[in-house]
Amino acid sequence: MEGEFNTLIWLIGSGLPLNKYKKWEKGIIVHVVSLEGYEVIDSQKLKTLFIDFFREKNHSVISNASLVPEGDPTVLFTPAGMHPLVPFLLGQPHPLGKRLVNVQKCLRTDDIDEVGDDTHLTFFEMLGNWSLGDYFKKESIAWSLEFLTDRRWLSLPKERLYITVFAGDEGAPRDVETARIWMDLGIPKERIFFLGKKDNWWGPSGATGPCGPDTEIFYDTGKDPCTENCKPGCSCGKYFEIWNNVFMEYNKTASGKFELLEQKNVDTGMGVERTVAALQGMRSVYEVETFKPIVEKIVDAAVTADPAERSLRIITDHIRAATFILGDENPIVPSNVEQGYVLRRLIRRVIRHGKILGIESEFLSVLANIVIDLNQEEYPILLKKRDLVLNELRKEEAKFRNTLEKGLRKFQQMTGDKRKMSGKDAFLLYQSFGFPLEMTRELAQEKGISVDEEGFTKEFERHQLLSRAGATKRFKGGLSDASERTMKLHTATHLLNEALRRVLEKEDIVQKGSNITPKRLRFDFNFDRKLTDDELKRVETVVNTQIKRSLPVEMQEMSLEEAKTRVAQGVFEQKYSEKVFVYFIGDFSTEICGGPHVKNTIELGEFKIIKEESVAAGIRRIRAILE
Ligand code: ALA
Repeated sequence: MEGEFNTLIWLIGSGLPLNKYKKWEKGIIVHVVSLEGYEVIDSQKLKTLFIDFFREKNHSVISNASLVPEGDPTVLFTPAGMHPLVPFLLGQPHPLGKRLVNVQKCLRTDDIDEVGDDTHLTFFEMLGNWSLGDYFKKESIAWSLEFLTDRRWLSLPKERLYITVFAGDEGAPRDVETARIWMDLGIPKERIFFLGKKDNWWGPSGATGPCGPDTEIFYDTGKDPCTENCKPGCSCGKYFEIWNNVFMEYNKTASGKFELLEQKNVDTGMGVERTVAALQGMRSVYEVETFKPIVEKIVDAAVTADPAERSLRIITDHIRAATFILGDENPIVPSNVEQGYVLRRLIRRVIRHGKILGIESEFLSVLANIVIDLNQEEYPILLKKRDLVLNELRKEEAKFRNTLEKGLRKFQQMTGDKRKMSGKDAFLLYQSFGFPLEMTRELAQEKGISVDEEGFTKEFERHQLLSRAGATKRFKGGLSDASERTMKLHTATHLLNEALRRVLEKEDIVQKGSNITPKRLRFDFNFDRKLTDDELKRVETVVNTQIKRSLPVEMQEMSLEEAKTRVAQGVFEQKYSEKVFVYFIGDFSTEICGGPHVKNTIELGEFKIIKEESVAAGIRRIRAILE
């Protein structure tokens, strides 16, 4: 049976004309009729094969982490399988060893504008294998090729694989070693392309941390090239990127330098949906078995005769993402801040695209039910959270349906025959009708006009000032909410920041990250060694002394230029506004900050450090509470 099974997979992948079983169109398999006694590789099968393969190579299976990283200010959602592994990529020993493998649920919104094409998704599953200072390029590449092409595994035809490799720049050399390994394994040099940092360098989204050159593996769908220049990396859909092997040998420091890491790691990522689509010769990921029933349901519900494909796809992608966010281990519900706002934007976009298809009745919960049914076996948490997911979707849908129609009319009135929409109008749509800026931008694009986004941001900031950094704001500085307790911890964070500079006698200590919940503060800063118990005690004492001094907390608005002269240290992150807010805590601390804060330090109570640890090379983390 195994032999037969693999033969079929090989035939499907090989492009041999099996007319008896398949319909052909321009050499691409457009439809695979399932054969009794045979099995095609669907998502479930692919995941099992991947894990089995790397288990045979002595990898330990690690768990599929939450989509919402716990209290991590650097990202809102888990963007890649490597994310929960950052400390181990930087050198901390992993309890399960140096070779790891898993399936990870991921969410990225960087490519949200691409959603609607054949391959880009916000929510997806990623297969990954890691070497933490163990094997490197040679084994990693050889194993990827074996898994993709060997008849025991995926049996993809080698001649359909195309490779990209890092071309080198001033920061790191051209990766000829990787190209050589591919060639030695039989990939001809005509199918290997050297590309720059944009394409062949990977690290956690621009931030500091482990990173390095990568080599990406593309599958040629057999479509005609779009132009003479069509090559892997082109967005026309001829080449599906199915696997990315990152050779993490650098650490990007806060100053933007790339330092060699002590340990050389491998971090790989294979998109489940894309690979299944490639394996089954599908035109897009929306034909994969975990998508198709959703698409079919939307087509059923659509009133328009020929539903717009882009809208179908956006709805399908976003409802999956929304269901997985609501059904995550760490609870998130729609709101105007952080993850809750991403969720809200996804849901509102689904409703609007539903409207394009003529769907006026409640449909989000119907679709979410399908998403849950399709994924419940692997994600039993979705079943447990079914009621919550459906209720939240119903509530949000009811709320937004009320304003969408009116907002759309307002949009038409506002834009008329104008060529550009003002920032004020875009803000009005946001504030009065709940239109996220992205939605207004999309509406404008559809009408062929632009939006004054800078004007929108100015208006947004002005409003924040008026409402005293109130309810509509997405809190900066990692605040989870604006509760009394969070505000107190926020003020304590400023005291801690200054206390560290004084106790450690290092003027250039700055905030590298901050995350505050009503229970505790978490503060990351640049310092290259563990703090001693004595230093921690002294920091506590300095903070508590300032608290007892009953220092007033005052805010002044000033130009960024002026702020830079008055604030010794600060996170000068404001991009748009010339005006910034500066918070003064008596004569002790001065920081640029979006607030909110308490009025007087005496409100804080007793400050206590509960943990001090390393998070990355040269970055320490302090957790503290107020008692
Ligand atoms: N972390 C790498 C990626 O997401 C593998 O592409």
